[in-house]
Amino acid sequence: MKSHISIKNLNAFYGDHAALRNITVEIPEKQITAIIGPSGCGKSTFLKCFNRLIDLTDGARASGKIMLGDVDVLNGSVDITDVRRRMGLLPQRPNLLPMSIYDNIAYGPRLHGTKDKKKLDQLVEKYLKIAGLWEEVKDRLKSPASKLSIGQQQRLCLARGLAVEPEIILCDEPTSALDPVSSQHIEQQLLELKKDYTIVIVTHNIHQAMRLADYVIHLYLGELVEHGPASEVLENPKEERTRAYINGTFHTDLKVDTELNLKGNVCPYNFVYAKQALHNLEKGKILKVIVDDPMAVTEVPRGMEADGHGVLRARQINKTDWEIVIQKKE
Ligand SMILES: Nc1ncnc2c1ncn2[C@@H]1O[C@H](COP(=O)(O)OP(=O)(O)OP(=O)(O)O)[C@@H](O)[C@H]1O
Ligand SMILES: [Mg+2]
Repeated sequence: MKSHISIKNLNAFYGDHAALRNITVEIPEKQITAIIGPSGCGKSTFLKCFNRLIDLTDGARASGKIMLGDVDVLNGSVDITDVRRRMGLLPQRPNLLPMSIYDNIAYGPRLHGTKDKKKLDQLVEKYLKIAGLWEEVKDRLKSPASKLSIGQQQRLCLARGLAVEPEIILCDEPTSALDPVSSQHIEQQLLELKKDYTIVIVTHNIHQAMRLADYVIHLYLGELVEHGPASEVLENPKEERTRAYINGTFHTDLKVDTELNLKGNVCPYNFVYAKQALHNLEKGKILKVIVDDPMAVTEVPRGMEADGHGVLRARQINKTDWEIVIQKKE
């Protein structure tokens, strides 16, 4: 496996809040790497460090190394425009320019100096074909991009991103706003594209990770829990937390037996109260606790796992609160 992006000791902060802690991992070349993990674990932040979009958030900073060949992306003197050109971003929702289908694709190449009409025509056709959209739009290239369906708009975003000839495609939940058929289109396109591009995809959907990924990175509360070939991480994880996450996301209909609101409590009381509640439950029953202390978000799941219980889910549910779902094992 040849590495394309090499990440060493990556830390990211929003103010005092550590969103990523000391991440060291390699992204393999011309493979699909899926980033999985519960809401709020830092997946989007991770991608935003790659192309320095994190710079656009006030109070956010990243440290460590992200090496793209011999370019250190986080180095202050790096050419950010060039880094962003080399890494195309496919966002969660299509964010097209208010122009025609044609102009959306021609925009990037024009900006980078391609003026020749014939050359632009060729580029537009080439990338619409690669994105699997050509047949559907070839007769209305001059009509507004906004007239397309959401699924078509997402493929147009893909075509637009590819038109500036990146090496890497970063996708942050690229199908979460799409219907199943449009999602399938995008997935097919990504599988085709990995012949020529390195792809990193953030996904909430374990089934999608199974369909697409060659390599998987599991993040949890800003830390790298496990990474490796998809077949190992998804089917036979080494870490209990990965197993819990995969099982938990399969059980979307988790039946909670007891719910406990621990908002306003600080550590270690959160853990003590959660432990008491669990003590009163039978083996196999499920407890959900709601916490708002950032320490509890890390310490309750850790403590529960150390006691041999299963943490089925830990996710941020709104700006201040987290839910932690625990299954009594012992
Ligand atoms: N602009 C911001 N300001 C302050 N904190 C932020 C900001 N963006 C993200 N965070 C915090 O950083 C942590 C990681 O957020 P991030 O968006 O990277 O998570 P995520 O894994 O992508 O979540 P989701 O699955 O919900 O998209 C969270 O605790 C989040 O609240
Ligand atoms: Mg996100």
